[in-house]
Amino acid sequence: MKAVVPAAGLGTRFLPATKVVPKELLPLLDVPAVQVVVDEALAAGFDEVVLVVSPQKEAILRHFQPAPELCDELRARGRAELAERVAATSRPVTAVVQARPLGLGHAVGCARHAVGDEPFAVLLPDDLFLGDVPAIAQLAEAHRRSGASVLGLLEVTAAEVSRYGIVRAEAEAEGAPLRIRDLVEKPAPADAPSRLAIVGRYLLEPSVFERIERTPPGWGGEIQLTDALRGLAAEGGLVGVPLRSTRLDTGEPMGLLEAAILRALAHPAYGPRLREFLAALPRR
Ligand code: G1P
Repeated sequence: MKAVVPAAGLGTRFLPATKVVPKELLPLLDVPAVQVVVDEALAAGFDEVVLVVSPQKEAILRHFQPAPELCDELRARGRAELAERVAATSRPVTAVVQARPLGLGHAVGCARHAVGDEPFAVLLPDDLFLGDVPAIAQLAEAHRRSGASVLGLLEVTAAEVSRYGIVRAEAEAEGAPLRIRDLVEKPAPADAPSRLAIVGRYLLEPSVFERIERTPPGWGGEIQLTDALRGLAAEGGLVGVPLRSTRLDTGEPMGLLEAAILRALAHPAYGPRLREFLAALPRR
């Protein structure tokens, strides 16, 4: 099965850092954030990742391709261990280009031919999950059991609902996924059907592609994936699973910094140094 990673956004919240460098290549300490998300998909058993990139962001694809000249040069300089680390970033990744930023639904639609006629995952690289079980694996399991399309969910505060797709869901049986009856993109708090938010992980049946093609522009004038899934929910073909891992929003600078700090703290060499550095900071 394939996993789609839409990475065509403008990265406005990181400007000017993202004027030239794609947001997805900003480092989480020593690896680009997108590599963590690609590895989540591969760890969950997906065999190919399809990146959806804008024409300016093809460097993301290059990050996952072999770099034999660089590796040869490093070996010639006696840096064989570093050469191995660079070589180890090759991944089964392909890319499709989204020529214009017409929304998340449109971006996913651009992957239609690359995905083909089989269920597929969507992982938004702004949502990073840290935990032992890859977040997308939880969705794949729910898909295997129910045969329905699946959304990853997380409860947010009332003040936060207008930043997410929000679902109206019903519990069916103890421990079973929630049945999603409706969903709305970025509602005002007063209009939100609940506080259960879609958090960047989807496991979708390929019939979704047809629905995307019929979806008119919605919130922000963009073709929204949330809107494309409404008909599926109405027909009973959509479920949701609350995700168990810790989520970080690396689509904004503080979230990326928090994720980098957590990664550094868990690192055998950087962890002790970071703790020392933080302990030595003058108290305000
Ligand atoms: C997208 C989706 C939204 C979802 C969110 C999760 O919004 O459109 O439904 O809740 O990702 O991060 P974006 O954050 O790209 O505006």
